[in-house]
Amino acid sequence: MQERSVAVIAPAKLNLSLDVVGTLPGGYHALDMVMQAIDLHESLLLRRSQELTVRMPGSFVPINPKNTAVKAALAFFDYTGLLAGVDILIRKRVPVRAGMAGGSADAAGVLVGLDALYGAKLSMSELCAIGAGIGADVPFALMGGTCRVQGKGDLMRPLPPCPDCRFVIVMPSIGVSTPAAFARYDEVGTPAHPDCAAQEQAIRAGDLNALCTAAGNALEHCSGAKETAHIRALLDEAGALTSLMTGSGAAVFGVFAKEEQAEQAAAALREHYRQVFVARPDRGGARLAPARYQNYPAGR
Ligand code: C5P
Repeated sequence: MQERSVAVIAPAKLNLSLDVVGTLPGGYHALDMVMQAIDLHESLLLRRSQELTVRMPGSFVPINPKNTAVKAALAFFDYTGLLAGVDILIRKRVPVRAGMAGGSADAAGVLVGLDALYGAKLSMSELCAIGAGIGADVPFALMGGTCRVQGKGDLMRPLPPCPDCRFVIVMPSIGVSTPAAFARYDEVGTPAHPDCAAQEQAIRAGDLNALCTAAGNALEHCSGAKETAHIRALLDEAGALTSLMTGSGAAVFGVFAKEEQAEQAAAALREHYRQVFVARPDRGGARLAPARYQNYPAGR
């Protein structure tokens, strides 16, 4: 029997590296990146319905046709031809305008949840093809783990799991608009070109120090985020192996070898910033939540 409701978790991502290597038709940029899923995730509950409703209690993200969860539901029903609806409840944990693909995680979570709810049994490549039409980071949000990602964000090569480590992530109070960051990149370019190939090799070799040496973000100089340098200095002072911005910003993270160091650094950063997270690498992408979460009533 098909379920009446399903619970899904959808991890956020960090860019261990991000390079801009060219331009693509449609105003997009050709990217070269190493992306890492983390255990900070969105929680979704989807329930069968005759209508389409989306709720994100406590979040200021507008619920309109541009909302990635709405787009994902519409794209799923369009692709499958199912005449059905869904009530979607999203508990947003991932900061917004952070460069952590929270919106893409919502879309990926909706696709995975609807697939299970309606027994569609779409393949990962079908889900990724639907996801790519919603946003450049949605295919990775579906795939998760550690990937070398190229093109617009749709060419993914899964890598072995990144060496065990902890990320201390700091989100300043002002976020960044991704299109605006890329528009500024077109004006000013970048002095930073991280070595994504060397980082891929470091991950294959399980070498955390080499991974950190190769880290970098070509959008850091043009993101417009005012606090990046200050946050990086605080993370470096707190003993990070490296620190960098993720995606188009505004979140900044430091890499730590040990949990205890990461917790100490997070405590130091919380003296200055309200949104500070300690996360670990996650080996998966958007997926059904463990069985104990499957029976949450929709109001929660
Ligand atoms: O695809 P998504 O809606 O997430 O992308 C947001 C914006 O980021 C795009 O409109 C584009 O301006 C920029 N972008 C880009 N090149 C990419 C990915 C995103 O220029 N590869």
